[in-house]
Amino acid sequence: MRGYFISFEGGEGTGKSTQIIRLANWLTEQNQEVIVTREPGGTDGAEAIRTLLLNGDADRWNKRSEALLFAAARADHVDRLIKPALAQGQWVLTDRYIDSSRAYQSAASGLDDKDIMALHEFGSEGLLPDLTFLMTIDPAVSKDRLHKRDGDKGDRIQDRENGFHDKVRKGFLDYARQEPERFRIIDGDGAIDAVHARITAHLTPLVS
Ligand code: TYD
Repeated sequence: MRGYFISFEGGEGTGKSTQIIRLANWLTEQNQEVIVTREPGGTDGAEAIRTLLLNGDADRWNKRSEALLFAAARADHVDRLIKPALAQGQWVLTDRYIDSSRAYQSAASGLDDKDIMALHEFGSEGLLPDLTFLMTIDPAVSKDRLHKRDGDKGDRIQDRENGFHDKVRKGFLDYARQEPERFRIIDGDGAIDAVHARITAHLTPLVS
């Protein structure tokens, strides 16, 4: 049995976490072994780095140290959780991966995409997902969802201004257009079941 490595990407409040759980249940029903994980995090070391990244003052890290910390967390996650699970034939579903570093630290923060990819090559031996679902949604809808979830207080990165999040959104779409064989753009608007069906439509051939 072979598992696939799938990442979910998109801005905050696009429904990634809800859809990952739905997909994990669906895969289990198809007799697949699945693990669900997230970034930054997924292993003890990477969760410790997550705390450093998401808490504290807005200027706690500069852009370069922030990019290095995300890459360091990912390196641990890939080495200790993602690669061993794939080697055992499990599916790995991750809530965010390298394309978040590209969208947030490059497209929105101004670092060069080549530098982000070079860090990924060094830290995680360049491991890319088999498929990446980019969840898109009207920014007004995601803002409303986030407000219901977190009130006025998000984390260090979520609290950046609207212009930052516009660049994140555009960055994700640019990367998806550059790599159409890896990315599937999913319209995240509508009922949970309807969005779930848009996702499984791409996976049915892989489980049958
Ligand atoms: P999280 O609470 O997991 O966000 P969400 O629920 O929206 O997925 O927080 C992760 C934050 O870190 C989010 O704002 C995106 C950001 N991030 C980066 O800036 N670069 C990265 O490489 C990753 C993985 C996340």
